[in-house]
Order: sequence, then C-alpha cells, then structure tokens
Amino acid sequence: MKFKDLLKVGVSTLALLAGVVSASEDAVVTGVIVDSAGAPVRGALVQVTNGSRSISRFTDAKGTYRISGLPETTLQVTASRLGFKSQTIDARTPTNGASNFRLEERFDRLQLSDAELLTHLPQNSEVEWLKARCITCHGLTDLERFRGVPEEAWLAMLKSMEFSYGTESLTADDDAYAVKLLMKYFGPDAPVPTAQTVRRTTLSDAALNATYYVIDLRRSGGRSYPHSIAADNQGAAWLSEAGPANRITKWTVSTGQLEEIPMKLPDSAPHTPKIDLKGRVWTALQRAGQQSVIDPKTHKIDYIPLDMKLPTR
Ligand code: HEC
Repeated sequence: MKFKDLLKVGVSTLALLAGVVSASEDAVVTGVIVDSAGAPVRGALVQVTNGSRSISRFTDAKGTYRISGLPETTLQVTASRLGFKSQTIDARTPTNGASNFRLEERFDRLQLSDAELLTHLPQNSEVEWLKARCITCHGLTDLERFRGVPEEAWLAMLKSMEFSYGTESLTADDDAYAVKLLMKYFGPDAPVPTAQTVRRTTLSDAALNATYYVIDLRRSGGRSYPHSIAADNQGAAWLSEAGPANRITKWTVSTGQLEEIPMKLPDSAPHTPKIDLKGRVWTALQRAGQQSVIDPKTHKIDYIPLDMKLPTR
C-alpha cells in the first residue's frame, strides 16, 4: 500500500476558497440520481474530474446536483453513496441534457469512512486502544482492506510499517497486543461489516452544501509525499511535499494552478505550513533543522536555522 498522492481539501478550508471560481468558461454539470426503484438518492457524492483536478458535491433531497468550476471539455462524472455501487460516466460539455444516474443497491465495506466503520465495531477499551494508537497516522479503514488475513500477515505488516515509517512508539508488546486485536476485529473469524451492522451517517442539510476540491499529485511520480496543507485568505492553499520532491507547492484552487517552490536545502522534509498575518508561509524543515519562510508574492525563501538546544531548568 502506498500513500496516494491525492489531496483533498475539506469543507472548512474551502469556505475561504469558494466564490473565486469564475463562472464564464466553466462547464456546468447537473443531473439527478435515483435508486433502482426510481426514488431520489439524497447525499450521494458526485465527483466531476478533468485530468488531475476534480470537484465534488452532494445531491440534495430531490437527488439533484449542480457542479461548475472546471473548464469545458470531456469530464468524468462519478456518483457514489454508501450502500450503492459507484458509477462513472463520461460527459461531454457543454452538457446537452443532464448527467443522470440510476444507482444499484450494493453494500461495499471498502467504501466505509472511519466513523462508519466504528459503528460496526464494539465500544470497548480494546477498540479505544486501536483508535488511540493507530488513528494518529491512518484510519482503521486501512485495516479493513486486509480483513481476514492470518496472524503472521498482520505482524509482518506492522513490522514493515515500523521499518518504513519509523513508528517507534509501538513496542514489541504493543505489536503483540495489536495483532491480538487485529485478529479479534479484522481476522478471518471476525464479524464482517454489512448494511445491517453499520450505522449510516445522515448528512445534515448544511453538510450537503459542501464542495470538495481534489488535486492529483501523481504527476510527480510518487515523489510528492504530500504532508500538510494550509489555506491562506487569498484563495490559495500551500502544500508541503515532504518526499524527494522536497518543496512547497502553492495551489490556486479556482484555476487549479500549481506553483512549485523547491527548497534549497537537500532532503529537508518540509512539515506543516502555517500562514502568518502578512500571508507569509512558515514551514519547519524537519530533516534540515531549519525553518523556511516564503514571501507569498515573490516566492522568495528565507531560511532560519533552529536552535536545537534543549531548554534548561
Ligand atoms: C506513526 C504513524 C503510524 C502509526 C502510529 C501507525 N501506523 Fe500503520 N502505517 C503507517 C503508514 C505511513 C503506513 C503506510 C500507509 C500507506 O501506505 O497508505 C501504514 C500502514 C499500515 C498497514 C498496511 C501495511 C502494508 O503493508 O501496506 C497496516 C496493517 C497498519 N499500518 C496497521 C497499523 C496499526 C494496527 C496501528 C496501531 C497499532 C498502526 N498501523 C499505527 C503509519 C502508522
């Protein structure tokens, strides 16, 4: 399993970023989504993709959606909802008529979010332990993908994860305990999530107004390792790419433009960008023991060595 070089900006960030989308050249994709009985599907997520950019919105109570913000060209439209089989169609724009979907009921446990998966698992101290020790880095949905594998396979995966990602926080005792719990809740004899055992999330009307913007960073051939992202108040988001790409990338959300700002210090592993009141972008360069400060207009970078001396009492 590889970290997918895909990045999503959630709803809270995009409140800042919405509204900058220019209406003129946008394709408008609209449609209605129904189930196999013809009833509208509320809260289905419709994703419109153009190359490495995509915009997603939910359907309303009438099952309708409207998405704009991508240039007029051939677009891919995917509709998905937990409990239904996802469907993708190619839509040529400007759309003559709508992109409608009739979704077939089918429960796919690999579509579960962590919150949904947790409604299937019992509420007890063991599941709390897994949450506390694993969710810091990745969801329990990562474990769902390996459901049913034997004890040795779980242990081998934990060891390989610790080797590759330096999870020093897990001791040999922790590993043994983790394997016991993985066998109990994700092993060959553990109950499998079904439509009956998972409590579905009812999306609020407010949540249905969300728009998701996604960029695909696989352009850099696995070198990106996107680490963190911070939104400024000018419609851009600043992304640290901590892998061999070793850079901060400015993403102008309305246009999808990506501007790469390479770090001069080799293999510096830029960590979590923060924006100050002047819009400057501050990032700790984890492996270089320095901090970078980027001027948002000129993209000039200052490097500030960090004093690594431990404080004395
Ligand atoms: C310090 C961060 C961190 C912690 C804590 C952590 N993991 Fe991971 N784990 C990772 C990373 C990074 C990957 C690779 C993810 C990927 O490729 O998408 C991974 C992958 C995995 C995989 C898949 C391995 C493979 O070969 O693809 C399993 C299984 C896994 N973790 C289990 C766990 C369990 C169980 C816990 C809690 C006991 C845990 N992890 C805690 C970082 C962590």
